[in-house]
Amino acid sequence: MNILVIGSGGREHAMAWKMSQSPRCSKLFVAPGNAGTAQLATNLPIGVEDFESIKKAVLEHNIELVVVGPEAPLVAGIRDFFEQDDQLKDIALIGPGKVGAQLEGSKDFSKTFMLRHRIPTADARTFDKQSLQEGLDYLQDMTLPVVLKADGLAAGKGVVICQTISDAEEMLKEMLVEEKFGEASQKVLVEQFLQGTELSVFVLTDGEHYVILPEAKDYKRIGEGDTGPNTGGMGAVSPVSIADRDFMEMVEERVVKRTIAGLQQDRIPFQGFLFIGLMKVKGEPYVIEYNVRMGDPETEAVLPRVETDLVELFMATAEGRLNEVALKTASFATATVVMAAGGYPEAYEKGSEIKGLPAGNARAEASASAHVFHAGTKEREGKVVSNGGRVLAVTGQGPTLKEALDNVYSQVAAISWEKSYYRRDIGQDVLV
Ligand code: AMP
Ligand code: GLY
Repeated sequence: MNILVIGSGGREHAMAWKMSQSPRCSKLFVAPGNAGTAQLATNLPIGVEDFESIKKAVLEHNIELVVVGPEAPLVAGIRDFFEQDDQLKDIALIGPGKVGAQLEGSKDFSKTFMLRHRIPTADARTFDKQSLQEGLDYLQDMTLPVVLKADGLAAGKGVVICQTISDAEEMLKEMLVEEKFGEASQKVLVEQFLQGTELSVFVLTDGEHYVILPEAKDYKRIGEGDTGPNTGGMGAVSPVSIADRDFMEMVEERVVKRTIAGLQQDRIPFQGFLFIGLMKVKGEPYVIEYNVRMGDPETEAVLPRVETDLVELFMATAEGRLNEVALKTASFATATVVMAAGGYPEAYEKGSEIKGLPAGNARAEASASAHVFHAGTKEREGKVVSNGGRVLAVTGQGPTLKEALDNVYSQVAAISWEKSYYRRDIGQDVLV
């Protein structure tokens, strides 16, 4: 069947790479894609929220499966657009509708959902401009630190951890009154800080059945030792040693099952990924956030460990028969290192030629010791040049995390461009 992936990052390259290995995949398209996806698919120059052009492409290329990578088109209602169109309504699409996407698009919506369905999470209350004074009063009784969260999508910047009550008071006013994060901070959650270790669990669900994909740990800060500003993610590892069997059983019983049952009770259809950001606190899981898509760079670490045919998994999701598919996971470990443009996540340059990319990466062997996924690249006069903040996501695999790290870092060392940057400490904190 012909398949369209929507997005242009390392996540979408990894998804296209995995699906290209499926015997069910005929022609593969990525919109808009990057220089990496161009090696194994046809890139279409269409923006991820340009639904009319996506429709045209779907009809022209006889697409039977659409996989939505990023959150923006989901929150903007790409599924609703498909369902309301006579020519598109029967096409399989991976990703929830507008209401389901609120689990990521509104932190107030997701917190209320978690509390209603007894899913363990940090205590929180939501305030707006009108209830600012109540918010300031509420702060007085909180233990430190305090977490303030803009309700809406704020490009990963809407969470502020305050170490003193007066900082929290100032920040709450800035967010609500001065609209520090624009529309996203019209409502703000004041939340209890959770002290623990973070990891992410990925669920694929058809709204009734589910499979739990391999877990991962993400490295969000730009600097080594988890210092400096937050980024989209500078690396990831899978599996994560703290996600032992007992812990994962608790995650399944208290978080995954209650989330799926909650969606059903609330009559929210959901076909797609649930990315559950967790904190392990004294051995128990607490949900920090939901996303309604896969993580990036977590996808680049997780998908190489999925042995089941990804197209089959997606079609079972779309057809409501995920219970018929058994998920097979590889026992090897993976480590992903993001190579970024110097300066990211602040200002950075684009357009530098990338040297040392391995040849013939196109349909690279699933068993290769390293895979180079493109995140922000494009082709210029036959050369691959940088075209974003996060430029490449390189994944190494090996029987142990240590070997996966050796493999990824030797591949990374062979690649360079002017002012490239990567963290050298990915995975070090979880090496056992
Ligand atoms: P989010 O945008 O919700 O993923 O939050 C960004 C980051 O802030 C998370 O990955 C955590 O590291 C941190 N964070 C969010 N909520 C809490 C919390 N209640 N306690 C501790 N850290 C948190
Ligand atoms: N790496 C974190 C995210 O995709 O949201």
